[in-house]
Amino acid sequence: MKIGIIGTGYVGLITGVGLASKGHQVTCFDNQAWIIEKLNSGTPHIHENGLNDLLGQVIKNNLFKAKLISESSLTDCEIIIVAVGTPTINEHIDLSYIVNTAETIGRALKQTDNFISVVIKSTVVPGTTDSLVLRTIEDVSGKKLGQFGLGMNPEFLREGCAIDDFIYPDRIVMGHEDQKTLNLLEKLYSPWDCDKISVNTRTAEMIKYANNCLLATQISAVNELANIAAATGNIDIMDVMKGVHADKRWNPILPNGNRIKPDILSYLIPGCGFGGSCFPKDVKGLRSFSKHMGVDSFVLDAVLKTNENQPLQVIDLLTKAVENLNGKKILILGLTFKPDTDDVRESISIKIIHQLDQLKVEIFAHDPIGIPNAKNELKDIPGIIYTENWVEVLSTIDVVLILTKWDEYKRLANKEMSAKLAGKILIDARRLLAPEAFPGSTYLSIGLNKCSYV
Ligand code: UGA
Repeated sequence: MKIGIIGTGYVGLITGVGLASKGHQVTCFDNQAWIIEKLNSGTPHIHENGLNDLLGQVIKNNLFKAKLISESSLTDCEIIIVAVGTPTINEHIDLSYIVNTAETIGRALKQTDNFISVVIKSTVVPGTTDSLVLRTIEDVSGKKLGQFGLGMNPEFLREGCAIDDFIYPDRIVMGHEDQKTLNLLEKLYSPWDCDKISVNTRTAEMIKYANNCLLATQISAVNELANIAAATGNIDIMDVMKGVHADKRWNPILPNGNRIKPDILSYLIPGCGFGGSCFPKDVKGLRSFSKHMGVDSFVLDAVLKTNENQPLQVIDLLTKAVENLNGKKILILGLTFKPDTDDVRESISIKIIHQLDQLKVEIFAHDPIGIPNAKNELKDIPGIIYTENWVEVLSTIDVVLILTKWDEYKRLANKEMSAKLAGKILIDARRLLAPEAFPGSTYLSIGLNKCSYV
């Protein structure tokens, strides 16, 4: 099928390359010439595992190209997928890119008699596709729904494993306002054999928000439990969660007695909070939408409040452990919002570094791939010493702070490495390592306080 995708950001590009890998003829549209040039030369402008190879492969097979957006170039697509940004402005979702794109599509539809289905993939609040998008396209094109199609097909890609998530999805949600669009979506996704959920567009929009908001709720709930455990003392929240994870409703037992260990358990681990371009934005987006609808959002308010507070738990651990922080050398391990990505958007590390800067400490920072983006984000703190080799600086620093769960930091638990930390403080804000591996150091973490206060 001939597919056009508007927006070559994270979602648009992965979708484009993924659809092309299944044999569709994909054109990704953007308005920035440098991105088009890069993509057509086979180099992605974003980092994602496996993207380089897959992009190279689909270009070689003549199934993918990138183009500057113009109305005339959209007219021979069977489906136009909209994957433009929907950022948050003042806690509300900003739909201006969606409106601009709907206008462009409206003008394109005016130029052709072809039936084209417009499918929104960007995360938008419920009702956006069947009201704002529909109205805009109808107004600009002079056509009515039926002369073109309308759908909503949310994405569930996790950064770091987005290609895998696209190629092996757990479900595909096919929101639609007309039968022809449902037929086209079924054809588009016919190479995939997974649950296909066919609903109206506003239900599809709500599924996306519900999914992210529930995951974020779990994280904040566990973080709050961790803070209660730490305040009580002599309880390790990891032991608590081990007890909870053993509940067969979270972790089903197979007939042979083995456990399934579902991925959902990885959202039930304490830490210093969630970040990234999705969870904070989507929880805020649904909260503000809910207020707009006159519905109280007690849970979503609390999810965000706990998450704002969580980085401060790390600062609290540090200030309680070190009497005079002035000039102390702190090594930050991890700058990205999670491992396997170079993305630092809404990263908890960035928030913590801003707090540390107020404490007049000397900051050393490492990340396997996130340093360039972090430097850009932290331009206002010129004193940070970025290091490519964290092992080398270990002996000179006073405190190590693990803020992102990069696999390579597990090496800290090696005997030789942990010996280097003797007499120093290790704050493991992601519960990456076992406290027992650091007998000579002060090991501190979220949800763990060896003293008993009660
Ligand atoms: C998330 C969802 O998981 C995807 O399904 C969704 O498609 C995507 O948002 C989106 O809306 O585009 P992503 O932002 O890539 O994906 O990241 P996750 O792996 O879900 O992690 C999000 C944040 O939660 C990270 O900061 C991570 O460190 C944090 N987290 C995760 C915790 O703090 N604790 C946990 O136990 C698990």
